[in-house]
Amino acid sequence: MDAFTYRNGILHVDDVPLNQLADQYGTPLYVYSRSHLKAQFKALVDAMAEVKPLICYSVKANSNGAVIRTFADLGSGFDIVSGGELFRALRAGADAGKIVFAGVGKTEDEIRYAIRENIRFFTVESEPEAMQIARCAESMGARARIAFRINPDVDPKTHKYISTGKKENKFGLDMERAQRAYAFAATLPGIEIAGLHMHIGSQILTVEPFVEALDKVLPLCRQFQALYPTFKTLDIGGGIGIQYKPDQAPLAAAAFAAAVVPAIKRSGLSIVMEPGRNLVGNAGVLLCRAHYIKESPLKVFVIADAGMNDLIRPSLYQAHHDIRAVRQITGTLQGDLVGPICESGDFVAQDRVLPAVQAGDLLAVMSAGAYGFSMASTYNSRPRPAEVMVEGKRLALIRERDTREDLVAREPDPAGIRF
Ligand code: LLP
Repeated sequence: MDAFTYRNGILHVDDVPLNQLADQYGTPLYVYSRSHLKAQFKALVDAMAEVKPLICYSVKANSNGAVIRTFADLGSGFDIVSGGELFRALRAGADAGKIVFAGVGKTEDEIRYAIRENIRFFTVESEPEAMQIARCAESMGARARIAFRINPDVDPKTHKYISTGKKENKFGLDMERAQRAYAFAATLPGIEIAGLHMHIGSQILTVEPFVEALDKVLPLCRQFQALYPTFKTLDIGGGIGIQYKPDQAPLAAAAFAAAVVPAIKRSGLSIVMEPGRNLVGNAGVLLCRAHYIKESPLKVFVIADAGMNDLIRPSLYQAHHDIRAVRQITGTLQGDLVGPICESGDFVAQDRVLPAVQAGDLLAVMSAGAYGFSMASTYNSRPRPAEVMVEGKRLALIRERDTREDLVAREPDPAGIRF
């Protein structure tokens, strides 16, 4: 389902023209389709129906409360990676019993918070972390459920910054160490062994890396099922890739399911999944306005009001986001879409064929629903954009634009500082 379509030459989100939203809320502006979020969630549930996984939406992809709430209402659980994400999820109505907590560096404070809220399980990245969780749980008179994250050493063939399941990555325990880690954790009184976790990377477009990783971890799971009666869950992580370019085939939920379901079904384990991008990536755009067109000897720069602080993916991962003119234009220009930030790395699209926009025209940066706003910063003291959610004809402002006052809200008045 494509939530963004041209009607009478104007790009719409669901039934709402994007220029109307720009007029109402200003730019830069993140816009999400709630219908798309729901459709993606349903597509994954349907594709995986044979194993009835608990889908734990990965909050880091887009942590707006309205997004979390939309998934919570559909019965989703949540994959979190910090106390802040736990707070956001609970505030948005998440069921703590469906929350899994990942990450290599959980602090004591975060661990205690999660134990207090009685989350489903921690995914654990090292033996020292298992010890820390055990200590916290024991001192609170509780038992914490854990799943060690195993690094199966497979190449997910994605950008190196978002590949996590190779042996040189900081994530997970290597296969050889797994036996020892489980045996050790089983001796800790504050710990209950719940299962095993893997997450091999993000924006993966073929099924092979998932199949290869499962081939490696499923035999381990069989051993652990025999050894530990509470070992019942396999968490297969996230990573399903989406379409960013018109000629790119996404990894369809059905194809993913066809490749992984037979093996995980045979295992008899209960399955957890942690999709992020798959659910939200193509549900969102970053709306911006071209302010100046600058022609240099080499190329044309379209200078817009959105930059790397609003959407860092192009600068950080050389990520491709399609650029569409809100008012459909047939002509093209060759050049860069850049922001106002004082860095040469500040671009939204580089060396591309772009719509032949003029100053004042609105542009939609496509596929910006995942890792867009959630990675935004206020660099160059730029207030972060507002966010709007649309469903059919209806819309809601789900985050106000930062104000200038917000930028300094946590700083005392410099004139009053005494050392
Ligand atoms: N589970 C774990 C443990 C993760 O670390 C991640 C993402 C996910 C699930 C969700 O992965 P997804 O289904 O979205 O691929 N900022 C990068 C992506 C970083 C992903 C980090 N971990 C980007 O903009 O491409």
